[in-house]
Amino acid sequence: MSSVADASKLLDCSSIRFGPGWQPGCHLDVLLPSGRRRQYSLCGDPADLRTYRIAVRRLPDGGGGSVEMHRMTEVSTVRVRGPRNAFPFLPRERYMFLAGGIGITPILPMVTAADRLGADWRLVYTGRTRASLPFLDERPSGRVLVRTDDEHGLPDCTDLLRDVEPGTAVCCCGPAPMIDGVRAAGTALPETTLYYERFAPAPIVDGWPFEVELRRGEQVLGVPDDRSVLDVIRDERPAVAYSCGQGFCGTCRTAVLAGNVDRRVPSDPGEGTMLICVSRASGGRITLDL
Ligand code: FES
Repeated sequence: MSSVADASKLLDCSSIRFGPGWQPGCHLDVLLPSGRRRQYSLCGDPADLRTYRIAVRRLPDGGGGSVEMHRMTEVSTVRVRGPRNAFPFLPRERYMFLAGGIGITPILPMVTAADRLGADWRLVYTGRTRASLPFLDERPSGRVLVRTDDEHGLPDCTDLLRDVEPGTAVCCCGPAPMIDGVRAAGTALPETTLYYERFAPAPIVDGWPFEVELRRGEQVLGVPDDRSVLDVIRDERPAVAYSCGQGFCGTCRTAVLAGNVDRRVPSDPGEGTMLICVSRASGGRITLDL
């Protein structure tokens, strides 16, 4: 494992082993020694079958996974699963790539692939400052606009998409406000297709407060309308298992002992369980096998 770039904030890890091939947009599940599981986009070259490269931004106030990753050294070993793809890259003639900060990681191999396809592409790379943007030195030449808040002000997504031609695939990865802004601006461009990946959970819409009863601990916790069950439980039990926090990895699936579930993603089919990072109670209380 090697560490490069601004090591205090960004860990760039390369595991030199033969593994399954992957496509742009794929991520690895990293199984940390503490039992945490985290997902990181592969940001190397898919044509390189000897190396998986991921980059981890250190978040001191996060769930602890990135801090644990940054404690690793060049001789550390870590188990991974995958690659898996929740952000597929499809062959198109024209692409507009939008990356916000560490959201550049899945976009980098997409840009490489678009270049190899001979597609017409542009990349807009946004962030607070140039110093906060990883891989600036790796961006392909030309057709790249680096747009930072300190130099240009906060980005307006309508402006970012202003010159997008019909038939363009818009591929976006970044913070939630950027994704939401691009989605909203994209509604005025019906002849484009938007592909996006969040690296933070979407805000809760139309939530309502309820109680969650934890059977093993015989605890009853209040879940406010704007927080997830997972977040509330993590306050009491920081080691509760989770990974993506967005309802697609399945790590937080928990048996439901009583109560009805308001399922908020298609990936939560039920069968006596719920994904506590996204699904909620449809009544006043739900009892979980935790
Ligand atoms: S943490 Fe991934 S589905 Fe809940």
